[in-house]
Amino acid sequence: MADGNITKDAMYGAVAPDDFESMLTLDRYGERSTAFDKIISATHDHFWDPLDKRYIDFDEPFDLENVAMMPEEQQPLLRLPYVAETLTDPKERIAFINYLQLRNFSSILHGEQGALNLSASLCHVLYDQGAQEYAANQTREEARHVTAFAKYVKSRWGRPAECGATLKKLLVEIIEAPEVYKKIVGMQMLVEGLAMGAFANGFKYNRDPVARKLFQLVMTDEAFHHKFGKIWADRTIPKLTEGERNLVEDWTAHCAQSLLFDRGDPRQSAEIYGKFGLDPDRVIADIVQRRKERDPTRKFKGETNVFRVLIKTLLKAGLITERTRGFYAAYVDLDELAAEGERMVGDDIAEDGIRYLQEINFKDRTRAVSIAAE
Ligand SMILES: [Fe+2]
Ligand SMILES: [Fe+2]
Repeated sequence: MADGNITKDAMYGAVAPDDFESMLTLDRYGERSTAFDKIISATHDHFWDPLDKRYIDFDEPFDLENVAMMPEEQQPLLRLPYVAETLTDPKERIAFINYLQLRNFSSILHGEQGALNLSASLCHVLYDQGAQEYAANQTREEARHVTAFAKYVKSRWGRPAECGATLKKLLVEIIEAPEVYKKIVGMQMLVEGLAMGAFANGFKYNRDPVARKLFQLVMTDEAFHHKFGKIWADRTIPKLTEGERNLVEDWTAHCAQSLLFDRGDPRQSAEIYGKFGLDPDRVIADIVQRRKERDPTRKFKGETNVFRVLIKTLLKAGLITERTRGFYAAYVDLDELAAEGERMVGDDIAEDGIRYLQEINFKDRTRAVSIAAE
């Protein structure tokens, strides 16, 4: 199995996506890795169902016309001089903030669909049965995230917005990649890392209680998905040759470039400005001006800042070395991140969520048993 997968641990061994015959190898059945068993069995503790109102009720209303989902301080666009002087009507500002949230939730929905297809694609390539069971379990969890976010978007806006070009390109790239390291780094480390930051931020600031509940429920699952990527990194990265390490690091930087920097390119949002009577060129000129005036040594701060959360994940996983340090150091203080503990911002939110789910799931064991017997 020496190939482009850069496998350093048998449990992450992989075959080509179309090589089903290898799965029928008899010895394989007896060599199941137990490394993921804890994550697999924990799935019962954090079980939830987006179609069951005991967990979340998408019929609870929210007044999108009169209440901004996010506080204005969380929308730096509204502080641009041109935007501030054009959008003066409070209702218009609310509409602008809430439209940005439609775009945000739509990106999340498309990202969850990407995670579903990616984890399903892992089932085809991972050779170890335990790793495969893990991937199948993640696929099932991603499927409920797609259901949940689709229901949420439908209840609030009716229909999602298109997937942005940069995100679409990256999702297609990692789902189609046959190499396991590209899938795991791209999805489990980068996309999941970014999602944990975005969900933590939404959990903290979104004014819609249904949205906050949704973020928390999803985070109870995502924390484990992220762990799968972390176990891969811990067992793989220290054993890489220099050449392999460079490949993995460059792929990491490529994904980070797409997710963090290209996606933030204001030209991608021209459609939004036009919708609110704003001249996209003037908005972009303001953004460029603000970036010029910004202190170049200023770094992203705040424990739920998505850039910071994601880059910390990569740093702790050993996916950033001296070679690529400069690329990230322009945005965050890497020494400060290195000095912080392993705990991630989403961990506490996910743990509270699991306790909430355990209460619902195990409140009435006799009922669960009787249903199972029906
Ligand atoms: Fe997900
Ligand atoms: Fe996930």
